[in-house]
Amino acid sequence: MPVRLLFSQDANDRVSALMVSMTLEEKIGQMTQADYGALKGRVEDVVTYSLGSVLWGGDTEIPDITARGWAATTADLQALSARTRLKIPLLLGVDAVHGHNNVNGAVLFPHNIGLGATRNAALVERVARVTADELTATGIPWDFAPCVAVARDERWGRTYESFGENPELVRELGVAYVKGMQGPRLTDAASALACVKHYVGDGGTTGGKDQGNTETDEETLRRIHLPGYVDAIAAGARSIMVSFNQWNGKKLHGHRYLLTDVLKGELGFKGFLVSDWAAIDQLPGSYKEQIAASINAGLDMVMIPNGPGTDKNYQQFITLLTELVKEGVVPQVRIDDAVRRILEAKDAMGLSDRMSRGQQALEMVGSPEHRAVARDAVRQSLVLLKNSQDLLPLSQNSGRVHLSGRGADNIGMQCGGWTIIWQGKTGDVVVGGTTIRRAVEQAVGSGTKVTFSEDGEGVAGADVAIVVVGEDPYAEMFGDRADLRLSAGDSAVIEKIHASGVPMVVV
Ligand code: BGC
Ligand code: BGC
Repeated sequence: MPVRLLFSQDANDRVSALMVSMTLEEKIGQMTQADYGALKGRVEDVVTYSLGSVLWGGDTEIPDITARGWAATTADLQALSARTRLKIPLLLGVDAVHGHNNVNGAVLFPHNIGLGATRNAALVERVARVTADELTATGIPWDFAPCVAVARDERWGRTYESFGENPELVRELGVAYVKGMQGPRLTDAASALACVKHYVGDGGTTGGKDQGNTETDEETLRRIHLPGYVDAIAAGARSIMVSFNQWNGKKLHGHRYLLTDVLKGELGFKGFLVSDWAAIDQLPGSYKEQIAASINAGLDMVMIPNGPGTDKNYQQFITLLTELVKEGVVPQVRIDDAVRRILEAKDAMGLSDRMSRGQQALEMVGSPEHRAVARDAVRQSLVLLKNSQDLLPLSQNSGRVHLSGRGADNIGMQCGGWTIIWQGKTGDVVVGGTTIRRAVEQAVGSGTKVTFSEDGEGVAGADVAIVVVGEDPYAEMFGDRADLRLSAGDSAVIEKIHASGVPMVVV
């Protein structure tokens, strides 16, 4: 296998040689990222349009969601890219934001807010390493993570995707994640390309509104929201996702100053910028104007959830961008710059030389070794807020332990959003795992009895009560909350147990 040095003359020459032979259509194909759902029934479009990338959105379905099923689907897609004239491999990407969370049987990790609470960069690096291992086992070498949002308002529905409110912590853990994901060498079969997101200011919107407006001066934007990117770039990040939000009323997807002048110019970012999900569609004007504005602002690849038959789909994108170049609205040099960035990243990953990692790697998905890392992450993420009368730790021999609360026996609530489906769901999800109730039953000594009722009934006479309360799973704007208090139901259970006089642990 050829030795590939990042940005060596060698890599430059290889990409230049390739680009000389590319048609405009082939170049624009590289800039197009279609959702797998949009390709349904017409995967041949990978060949027809020489697409550069395919993603799976949070709700995009595939026939078989086991690791083996995912590996089969990704292999079929790569086989199509091998039939294009230039045989440039597809860059396949997915949101593995707390482990490879779309795969039945993969190991799930705490969301970033939990990892932030560990304050442990070495641990976060291991988490990302395991995630990269499981991702690449299924043939996906690109992860839309880490999210380096600095969540400044807990009412924001994506707060749990943030490592925390402190820019220093976010930069440290963001770097750890990039290192773990990309591994010692990006060309390694078990290394995946990180995608740092969402650039920039996503966690600083007014009122914590998702996709909102970050109203702040430039000094504050740079001090709070930018540092995560500066360090991630230094750590070797070569892809960054642009954010839905606005900065002082102007959407990032059309923000030439922040995308081109600051990120690519001042910070020297040599990788490529991918849009968020249909995000250019939110810019003013017609689709053609939106394409022109975003590409001219510095966007290199566009994430397109729509297929033919619907508005603003990937065919239209290709047609319109081709027209824009021919009309001189989007300069050819801008296209060449975008394509060079994308191809250099593919080259740095050794994408053309990657082969299926095979059966052995698939067997490691969800393995006990990987789960041990998750267990460690959960343990270290726990935060003890209050321990009156030294109630904790509980003894294994506690007489009768009464468990209650909606979260006590609910694996879906434990996992949260981005778990198999975009929003996650309460109750049973296919990921397996142990509920708190089952774990307590396993942990107590033989003389201890564990009783359970969701609403707290039957607590009287117990020696200790454990109440597990919390939010239903959600993702993105569905999690925006004006009111952060516990639900009436959760409060009622806590009050009921409090009234019984049984010592209570609230989780
Ligand atoms: C989210 C991104 C995600 C993308 C692809 C968007 O809606 O904002 O975080 O990577 O969808 O699923
Ligand atoms: C997709 C997500 C995406 C979201 C954006 C959903 O339908 O599955 O991946 O983040 O839309 O609004």
